[in-house]
Amino acid sequence: MGADSPPPDVADVPRVTTKTVQEMKEEGVPIAALTAYDYTSARLLDRAGADVLLVGDSAANVMAGHETTLPMTLDQMIYHAQCVVRGIDRSLVVVDLPFGAYQGDPTEALDSAIRVMKEAGAHAVKLEGGAPVVEAVERMVTAGIPVMGHLGLTPQSIYDYGTYQVRARDEEEADELRADAKRLEEAGCFAVVLEKIPAELAAEVTASLSIPTIGIGAGDQTDGQVLVSHDALGLSTDFEPRFVRRYARLDETIIDAIGAYVSDVRDRSFPDEDESY
Ligand code: KIV
Repeated sequence: MGADSPPPDVADVPRVTTKTVQEMKEEGVPIAALTAYDYTSARLLDRAGADVLLVGDSAANVMAGHETTLPMTLDQMIYHAQCVVRGIDRSLVVVDLPFGAYQGDPTEALDSAIRVMKEAGAHAVKLEGGAPVVEAVERMVTAGIPVMGHLGLTPQSIYDYGTYQVRARDEEEADELRADAKRLEEAGCFAVVLEKIPAELAAEVTASLSIPTIGIGAGDQTDGQVLVSHDALGLSTDFEPRFVRRYARLDETIIDAIGAYVSDVRDRSFPDEDESY
């Protein structure tokens, strides 16, 4: 096993659960999360050792080509989640509740979460925001549904913020985020995503919570990290925030491979005799 492989006790866990990620925080083992939206990718990410697969509403951007995450519907999220759940053996599957599926009232939030759990076979849901969603979180947790929170840059509020810049740089917003993180923990969230906030603030919030934090653009002191898999794999390269590390340039691989296929078709070198009946 290479120096970068997860410790055997985590890699050997047959199923990652909310309890596993809690233990990982307590044992100081970083949690590796990635987004997934389809069966084939989920199979590969699961086999590669991702602890958490987030069926993110970023599907609106990378799968559907929308500018924001707002157009995503609950039915579309359930479809993506069903595909991901079919592809996994080990990873914990967390599904985003999309914009408009939980902000109305706690009962609407519970109904949406129940649909995700029942129809997709998901293991947990995620929703964005602090104080305004606390009651909804309590309602879902009471019903036995594990909930992941999401603070900092919350893309469903993009038209309120106006930009995708780093959040909570000023003390007032940082204080609000600290308080929201505590509220979400008290409401029963099993983990919280911290997106695009100063590393120092993320480290402080991580130390103040007993539940794990999963960072994206939040420095190296959160309990885990999450990236949009299309960004990490170099499939969506028109989006280049500094927090993205590209582990591959699959865009180049695909363009080269398909270019070769097109050329083989053109000059009739594909299919050859072995590939024909
Ligand atoms: O939708 C998403 O992909 C997310 C992650 C970026 C945290 O919420």
